[in-house]
Amino acid sequence: MIEIQNLTKTYKGNIQALKGIDLTIENKMFGLLGANGAGKTTLMRIVAGLLKPTDGRVTVFGHDMATLKGKQAAKGLLGYLPQEFGLYQTLTAREFLDYVAILKGITDSQRRQREIDEVLEKVRLSDVANRRLKSYSGGMKRRVGIAQALLGNPKLLIVDEPTVGLDPEERVRLRNLLSDMAATCTIILSTHIVEDINQSCNDLAVIRDGAVVFRGAPRDLIQNAKGKVWHVTTDGERPNGGVAIVSTRQVQEGVQYRVLGQPDSLYQPTAIEPSLEDGYIWLMNQQP
Ligand SMILES: Nc1ncnc2c1ncn2[C@@H]1O[C@H](COP(=O)(O)OP(=O)(O)OP(=O)(O)O)[C@@H](O)[C@H]1O
Ligand SMILES: [Mg+2]
Repeated sequence: MIEIQNLTKTYKGNIQALKGIDLTIENKMFGLLGANGAGKTTLMRIVAGLLKPTDGRVTVFGHDMATLKGKQAAKGLLGYLPQEFGLYQTLTAREFLDYVAILKGITDSQRRQREIDEVLEKVRLSDVANRRLKSYSGGMKRRVGIAQALLGNPKLLIVDEPTVGLDPEERVRLRNLLSDMAATCTIILSTHIVEDINQSCNDLAVIRDGAVVFRGAPRDLIQNAKGKVWHVTTDGERPNGGVAIVSTRQVQEGVQYRVLGQPDSLYQPTAIEPSLEDGYIWLMNQQP
């Protein structure tokens, strides 16, 4: 269990990245959803013990991250895939993982070998493990990132935007991989892609401007937009009034808009079932 209490982070220049976050994370796969600059990376780095908060408290499986002892104990239990993940391009995956394993203190070479084989198997890179990283695709590189985070058998895996820049197939593959991992460890996954969350997390928080604005299951976020999503078809004129346009599609009769809010009855709107994205956009359109 990860407990976050009244966590704040103010960067130099009085940039308030986190404004009092309270979260208890117990679930197997926890999603952190938020726009660019919302504070996701800041929060994850603090939980991983890589960044000091300005105020507040974080405990990881009961270990207080504010103390050296707690941090050391927690470090052995967690794996982290940073958002910006650099690889040593001239190394092979196996060489790179060997290097990371040594850094993680796995000094026994037989154990290291065994763990590397295990993680390579998990991320399905065993066949190409002796190829240089520079020949890997974006998705393969991301899987090497997951593999290095898994070395040492973490109980908590923190992955910051792992699906960015991946094609749909690789994205699905990575999501499935993480779902498999979630059987044996707690995962905190950040993303700004709503669909990543919908597919894999049963518990999530939405953060905006350094504050939690929603906490619950995807279906609760969807529920928020119930009765507020409509199709409106016009001859091309954008529907006015207090509605947010989610998408636009050319149809035989003109232009069909998917809108959130209460469109004018003049348009003869048809009510439709909300998606998670509708719920998210609805939330983002509410006044803070
Ligand atoms: N080292 C830093 N110094 C100053 N400000 C920072 C620093 N790192 C982040 N910030 C600011 O803190 C806020 C939160 O940034 P953070 O990187 O945590 O957001 P994010 O949700 O991860 O965004 P993204 O989706 O773009 O990765 C932003 O306003 C950002 O500009
Ligand atoms: Mg980030």
